[in-house]
Amino acid sequence: MSYAAKKLRYLIVLSLSSHIGLSMAANTNHEGEMTMDNQYQQRAKTLMAQMSMSEKLDLLSGPGMDLTTYTGNSAINLDPKYAVEGVAGYINGVKNDHIDIPAIKLADGPAGLRISPTREGTDDTFYATSWPIGSLLASSWDTELVEKVGQAAGDEVRRYGVDFLLAPGMNIQRNPLSGRNFEYYSEDPVVSGEMAAAMVNGIQSNGVGATIKHFAANNAETNRFFSDSKVSPRVLREIYLRGFQIAVSESQPWAVMTSYNKLNGAYTGHRHDLLTDVLRNEWGFKGLVMSDWFASNVTGLATDFKSYATKPDHDSAAEQIKAGNDLIEPGGLKADLEASLKSGELSAADVDRSALAILTQIQKTPSFKHLPYNNDPDLKAHGQLARTAAAESMVLLKNAQQALPYSKNTKVASFGTVQINTLKGGTGSGEVNSEKAISIAQGLGQRFELDDAITQYYRDYWDENKQESDSLLSKHAFAEEPDIEGNPQLQQLIANAAKQDAAAVITIGRQAGEGKDRTATRGDYLLTTQELALIDTVSTAFHQANKTVTVVLNVNGVVDTHEWQDKVDGILMAYMGGQQTGYAVADILSGAVNPSGKLAQTIPMNYDDVPSAKTFPGKQDEHHSGMTNVDYNEGLLVGYRYYTTEQKPVAYPFGFGLSYTDFHYEDVQVSHNGLNDKSDKAELTLSAKIHNTGKVAGKEVVELYVAAPKNSLEKPAYELKAFTKTPLIDAGKSSTVSMSVTAKRLASFDPDRHAWVVAPGDYQFYVAPSSNVSEVTPLKVHIDHEIVVERTSKGALESIK
Ligand code: BGC
Repeated sequence: MSYAAKKLRYLIVLSLSSHIGLSMAANTNHEGEMTMDNQYQQRAKTLMAQMSMSEKLDLLSGPGMDLTTYTGNSAINLDPKYAVEGVAGYINGVKNDHIDIPAIKLADGPAGLRISPTREGTDDTFYATSWPIGSLLASSWDTELVEKVGQAAGDEVRRYGVDFLLAPGMNIQRNPLSGRNFEYYSEDPVVSGEMAAAMVNGIQSNGVGATIKHFAANNAETNRFFSDSKVSPRVLREIYLRGFQIAVSESQPWAVMTSYNKLNGAYTGHRHDLLTDVLRNEWGFKGLVMSDWFASNVTGLATDFKSYATKPDHDSAAEQIKAGNDLIEPGGLKADLEASLKSGELSAADVDRSALAILTQIQKTPSFKHLPYNNDPDLKAHGQLARTAAAESMVLLKNAQQALPYSKNTKVASFGTVQINTLKGGTGSGEVNSEKAISIAQGLGQRFELDDAITQYYRDYWDENKQESDSLLSKHAFAEEPDIEGNPQLQQLIANAAKQDAAAVITIGRQAGEGKDRTATRGDYLLTTQELALIDTVSTAFHQANKTVTVVLNVNGVVDTHEWQDKVDGILMAYMGGQQTGYAVADILSGAVNPSGKLAQTIPMNYDDVPSAKTFPGKQDEHHSGMTNVDYNEGLLVGYRYYTTEQKPVAYPFGFGLSYTDFHYEDVQVSHNGLNDKSDKAELTLSAKIHNTGKVAGKEVVELYVAAPKNSLEKPAYELKAFTKTPLIDAGKSSTVSMSVTAKRLASFDPDRHAWVVAPGDYQFYVAPSSNVSEVTPLKVHIDHEIVVERTSKGALESIK
């Protein structure tokens, strides 16, 4: 069964005869948006005055979803003419004698708009662009590029008549095995926050909404409805919430989606401290908060998800509304809310607060404004941008003796079934129905002369051996790599190729998706014996003939490299590049694009080195059957914070990536130091001249790490505080970059004082090409006085028993 809706039969026939039309143009300027928000809020109050309690409850609880067809049943006031098949859900409309608010359409997701590509009764198609996955986009370290992708993705949302995109996903990649890491950006909150803000700004520039998700500490998929993330308030604020805070302050998303998990004993959608005290009151979030799908109605899932049939906890819809989770999706809980109102558990004021949040935001949507749309995005131009984005983001991990780039028309022997079955993205709600996807074999074939006998071998092998994995959320086709042992045909092909061809490319693929974590086993984190044998045999044969071998990792996330990296000359971390993956890989391998991506996550030496290896994905709660507890006892030491603080060697550090040219960092200096001004706006600016000393033009990602004095708080060795990317610098030329850090960015959270504090003392600023700063001379900056940047809600986010 496809997760996407296949047949939508809307039962309600509605008319558009009268409506309240607000023709306020979309405004991307945040301050301007604030005043507009006030106007929207005033209008929302007027609308509410004309609505019954029952109609307000309709707004708070979506229309429900039929789990046999995955369709939203009867969204209120949805004109079938404007239905979009395959959306994930709706906000109910309202229609009475005075007002006519149409149903609002919400669709996934993080790698592009997920709607059904075909519809009954028409030959028209509704394909969307499949963009590079979040982890790959983040590896660009290029917020302008990500904003452009957001603009184009949002344009498709708008042109296909959808109102909110349920994206971006921005949870921290706490452990490389989390099944949804591919949707997320990074192990670091500054990278996650800046990427999400850029994406939201891009999406919302089209007058449609973005939804940052999943708030918060949702870092594993195992038992996802019944897991409890145990995280200290300091770690939450500094690691798991900080990215969300950056995204809220830099982009004001129209919506936030809460997560499935509990946080320190209570479901995130029930935490008033998280949703109201922190998100709205401290951070100034103005939008609406929605639940994740079925988060509060898991019993409704029982038919499909047998294991969820007994929910270990009662959770009430009313509690969510009271906490500030305004919209319950996909709905179906109106009766519960009514009962809670009757019993007094829920007050009319609680309902009004959430109705106001929803009505304020939905006035901005195209559906509310009855804006026409023509289903006519420029998929060709977007495809081109997807290719650029993928190529600008892929990370070259190894390039021994300048094996790469391979010159045009080099005769390349391309191995691996994933060159045929190239993975454009992950599975689940992060999938996109694009019209086509360029395979790595196709991409390489465009730039190089492919050894046809080998590619044909894999084509045939794929046709004969492909299997369908058809679980509810992760339908995908796959095939194990063929054995080499006992396979004279493949052995002969390898031997011939080593003689005739100039170089070998081996593609290794890994799929992952929603609802399931990965494992540290062969075939997942570790390569299979067939894959290792392929690398070994091809490398031996090609090296004997003095030819090079490059491995392309077409993967959802980190895989082991330690076992095999020494055997090959080149390694390209391509992740999943969306529909143009094949072309983007070829752009890099051929040097048409000089690689400039850098890792936004560490590749550890061994999985066991991962700081959360022992606590991921959690353990069964002894007292609470069915619940999984996830102890975040590595604290702040997530990803590179751990490896650098504990001086643990890694395979490839966070922030690392090679180029076909070399860069020297010159004239690194503090150009302005206002940090002693003692204000939370106080800022320090550094500049550096980035000199391209190599032979080809290239771009360089420049990272700023800061080592802070400890005072009473333990701190990681150093942390990323800012980053930038140069424009294309010609060989021999330089570009001057500057990066600013506010006191707010420098501050640590002191849980005893309920405050963000910049300690006085000596700070070391490293302007570095990666998180390995061992060869970088830091700039010393002294801060004279303590700066208390922000006071926070007392006791917020603590454990609830
Ligand atoms: C996912 C969300 C998604 C929603 C709607 C949930 O299962 O966790 O990320 O937006 O479904 O499809």
